[in-house]
Amino acid sequence: MIFSWIYRIVYRVAMRPVLFLFEPEKVHEWLKSLGIYLGEREWGRKFLKTTMAYEHPALEQEYLGMNFKNPMGLAGGFDKNAELTQALPAMGFGFMEVGSITGVPCPGNPKPRLWRLLKSKSILVWYGLNNRGSEEVSERLRSLDFEIPLGINIAKANLEELNPIDKGIEDYLKAYKAFEGVGDYFTINISCPNTVGGEPFAEPKEFNLLMQALNSVREANKPVFVKFAPEMPWSQFNALLDLCVEHQVDGIICANLTKNREDHPNLNDKPEFEHGGMSGLPLRQMTNEMIAHAYRKYPNQFVIIALGGVFTAEEAYRKITLGANLVQMITGMIFEGPQVVGEINRGLVKLLKQDGHRTIKDAIGSKNKLQDS
Ligand SMILES: Cc1cc2nc3c(=O)[nH]c(=O)nc-3n(C[C@H](O)[C@H](O)[C@H](O)COP(=O)(O)O)c2cc1C
Repeated sequence: MIFSWIYRIVYRVAMRPVLFLFEPEKVHEWLKSLGIYLGEREWGRKFLKTTMAYEHPALEQEYLGMNFKNPMGLAGGFDKNAELTQALPAMGFGFMEVGSITGVPCPGNPKPRLWRLLKSKSILVWYGLNNRGSEEVSERLRSLDFEIPLGINIAKANLEELNPIDKGIEDYLKAYKAFEGVGDYFTINISCPNTVGGEPFAEPKEFNLLMQALNSVREANKPVFVKFAPEMPWSQFNALLDLCVEHQVDGIICANLTKNREDHPNLNDKPEFEHGGMSGLPLRQMTNEMIAHAYRKYPNQFVIIALGGVFTAEEAYRKITLGANLVQMITGMIFEGPQVVGEINRGLVKLLKQDGHRTIKDAIGSKNKLQDS
């Protein structure tokens, strides 16, 4: 507890004001390098664990053959090339998702491609799936052991020549096959808002083709999750959920970055903010509605991973009580500091006790009936 306070104060007063003076992508690289350095050393991992991680039996769950020490995971996009897999468990995460990783390597969009929106508590992201590709990343991961469940988030590379549907599917398949025997679950990312070809696989017809192809090479006993965009009509979401049932998808992730700028009209005034999807607070309400809706439409059919503007234990708990089994985050960690994962877990235990729940599982969906979706 004392370490958490120290981190919080140091991050708020000293680190964040300095880090936020620099270009966001540079800061992302620096922090990643620090994480790699600490994660590769035993003393580094011990230091992180002692000062950040929080464990409690009430937070433990088991799904699809995976043991989650707590419900908090790192979302896809922070560790695109899977370099932090040794540091993240020590930081207190209960699971981690790496990527998005594409079949072939992908340079992403030209820089600058990342901006902080301080008033909106959001990051404007226009990375465009920059990553080193499935072969290099899977090769490196093959020799490692992982302390917590590892999700492999795959997408089709952001390259014009992969825009035709069959080429796009080929790239997904390449990524999928490269990770055979590596990691604990797959996430099929059909919702990156920053690619040249848009999001063709978010359309039910194309999604159906993609899932047919993936199922033809599907690895036994390795769960598959699908990550959705947050701003589609309910009819489209329902159609995709129906297809997920048909194709035996194990879990869903709600949701990716939002392109909806209605509540942020002055973003459009600045030419540098022309592109990109928003994370954090602007997503929160949308994803909460999606979680509530999916949980009601298909109770206990999917493991639901919730995302979007989780900065506190209260918000993580809200998502769980709406129906989420697990929660992921990125933006909360950037704004609040790396100790926030442990703080949220500690806070969750308190909130469970307050509501008379013995474990996280008891709380899932407990307040959904009050919500309309
Ligand atoms: C810097 C950054 C990069 C991201 N890159 C990816 C990505 O490659 N693949 C993906 O599925 N989601 C990506 N996302 C979206 C996040 O996984 C998540 O859906 C979104 O940020 C909402 O969570 P948050 O509010 O906790 O940040 C990215 C988000 C951020 C902030």
